[in-house]
Amino acid sequence: MNPFNYISIAEGDSFYDRKEETKRIVDTLQGGNNMVLFAPRRYGKTSLVYRAMQQLEDQGISCVYIDLMPVYSLESFAELYLQALYKKQSALDKFIQLVSALKNIRPKMLFDNFGNPEFGIEFAEPKVTIATIAEMLDIPEQMAQDGKRIVVVLDEFQEIRKFNKYGLEALMRSKIQLQHHANYLFLGSKTHIMQDMFLEKNRPFYSSASILQISTLPEQETIDFITSRFAASDIRISEELCRTIITRVDNIPYYIQLLCAEIWQYMMPDLHEVNADIVNECFVRAVEMKSDYYFERTDRLSPMQKRLLIALTRSGENIYSMDYIRRNQLVGASSLQKAVAVLLDDGTIDKKGTTYSICDPFYKYYLTHYA
Ligand SMILES: Nc1ncnc2c1ncn2[C@@H]1O[C@H](COP(=O)(O)OP(=O)(O)O)[C@@H](O)[C@H]1O
Ligand SMILES: [Mg+2]
Repeated sequence: MNPFNYISIAEGDSFYDRKEETKRIVDTLQGGNNMVLFAPRRYGKTSLVYRAMQQLEDQGISCVYIDLMPVYSLESFAELYLQALYKKQSALDKFIQLVSALKNIRPKMLFDNFGNPEFGIEFAEPKVTIATIAEMLDIPEQMAQDGKRIVVVLDEFQEIRKFNKYGLEALMRSKIQLQHHANYLFLGSKTHIMQDMFLEKNRPFYSSASILQISTLPEQETIDFITSRFAASDIRISEELCRTIITRVDNIPYYIQLLCAEIWQYMMPDLHEVNADIVNECFVRAVEMKSDYYFERTDRLSPMQKRLLIALTRSGENIYSMDYIRRNQLVGASSLQKAVAVLLDDGTIDKKGTTYSICDPFYKYYLTHYA
């Protein structure tokens, strides 16, 4: 089996480093505080938080994990939220009672093919109101009052912006503030949106949670990890080439694993020494494997978005300066701003300070060489 994994979260001995971050998360939540963690996609937030949740569970704190990415309506939010709480309930009667008390929502116990009970909900009317959602947000606290504390992890939290028109952000904040047995861990990968939510004075979540920003993994640990994983398959790789791998994928944990997985595949079963040509060839192969997807994605861009991305493959600094605009044919201030906003929002680009960059290093290569 390939010793490099980028498909699922990193667990067990596939997970390295992040000791301090894990401890900070565990200590903060155990101490009864809320926390927010942001980093771009594929930096290892979910993996890190799963590890922290294990440690919290070991200390007797129940951790409810909810990924808000798939949520598209208040109904789907209710469904996902209650499903996640159900998994962690320890007194079914009470849980069913709490759910039954929600206006318009009826709990429903079903049995799967193996006869195991499965929890679901039905709606008495097709629409769930924000008032019902408000009541639902009290359930973690009500569940926790039986003695066991609860931590609710809301992954991809920036997605609640889909419900701005209902004022969900302010509502959540006001609920969470009053809960003393439930604590919250917010994760988000659209860092600019998360930063606005938690760092802007006029926003509901301002100063509501301790902030943790995670960065890429430390170089030496990554080199040690790559070297030993290859060595276990009788493959040698120099430190220098490990560094090449790291640099070529902008040190992003997910892409490091992806490129290494590709190299491992290439080496097996009878090559034993990785060289620079192999690294390069595997990088290009990885791009080519995704080229249909990249083609469609590029095809859907507006001309301004496309010119902006091409410009970003060269530099992402001072993009609103006269010089940058002229050099890259980005004239039209409002349409440039709009292009930036759209690409930030769909996660194609990211912003650190005043510098913009393309998130996916393989897509960056594609844009430079094929677009
Ligand atoms: N601590 C880590 N050790 C090893 N690999 C990691 C680590 N964190 C992340 N990764 C790699 O990155 C990939 C994406 O991690 P994930 O936790 O899903 O990131 P995120 O939630 O930030 O998008 C994992 O599948 C794994 O390959
Ligand atoms: Mg994640």
